[in-house]
Amino acid sequence: MTATHSQIEALVRPEPVRHHVPHGPELPGHWMQVINLSVWYGARQAVEGVNMTVRPKAATAIIGPSGCGKSTFIRCLNRMHEVGAGVNRVSGQVLLDGHDIYAPSVDPVKVRRHIGMVFQRPNPFPSMSVAENVVAGLRLVSNPTKSQVDETVERCLDQAALWDEVKDKLSASGASLSGGQQQRLCIARALAVSPDVLLMDEPCSALDPIATAKIEQLIIELKRDYTIVIVTHNMQQAQRVADETAFFLAAEDRIGRLVEMAPTGQLFAHPADERTAAYVAGRFG
Ligand SMILES: Nc1ncnc2c1ncn2[C@@H]1O[C@H](COP(=O)(O)OP(=O)(O)O)[C@@H](O)[C@H]1O
Ligand SMILES: [Mg+2]
Repeated sequence: MTATHSQIEALVRPEPVRHHVPHGPELPGHWMQVINLSVWYGARQAVEGVNMTVRPKAATAIIGPSGCGKSTFIRCLNRMHEVGAGVNRVSGQVLLDGHDIYAPSVDPVKVRRHIGMVFQRPNPFPSMSVAENVVAGLRLVSNPTKSQVDETVERCLDQAALWDEVKDKLSASGASLSGGQQQRLCIARALAVSPDVLLMDEPCSALDPIATAKIEQLIIELKRDYTIVIVTHNMQQAQRVADETAFFLAAEDRIGRLVEMAPTGQLFAHPADERTAAYVAGRFG
């Protein structure tokens, strides 16, 4: 499930950036470290100076009012902002297991294989079957045999808590599923390439409460094996799924900054910053 050391080595430049493993080398799993990250759209700065440690095999939630740079920030964690339009400059460092994912020798496609992403709106490939959606990413990086495909489809749909619902319609179109099923299909597709980290940008915002509860339960199960970063505008959701929570806020200059990050219970019950206290109490945003 986790990448081998040589896969990691292939991702990175020869001389890794030296940094402390945040919670001790005895902990398995993959961790990330963000150092002084700033982001611009053209001349306009959207995010400034974020420093953050993402713990391995845990869920980290990013909360904050609309426009504070949550999506901009999370897209920088796997260089997704480089896909498509929107001229963008990034400064600072993003490390996966101590290795800079922005190092010149690093292939951004490989970065996104190690650090997968699930978006706000479920986006299965509509012309592909349920099964082919699961292995779509895998087919880009390898040439799996029929039995490898079958094994991956079942294992990933099972991990995404979708197998029982779709096992009799694996050849139906991915678009024929309900919204919540489509989002779990997208999670299965992300898992099929064996990522180290899973990024989710408001994965439930297009879903009804029942589908949302299923995804939340799934996140709680997945964080036993994966490192997860989830953007959510829903503070209850952060409290239900996240071990740590980071609060972002844009000041009057409209530049988003990390105000504070803490274990989730502590951030909501005893925030250190009065802006966090006001936000979690619902006084703005
Ligand atoms: N493609 C873009 N071009 C220019 N500005 C953008 C673009 N995407 C986002 N922004 C701006 O960056 C800021 C942060 O946006 P975003 O990261 O989407 O915030 P959030 O996800 O917290 O709502 C906003 O002011 C937004 O208008
Ligand atoms: Mg957003």
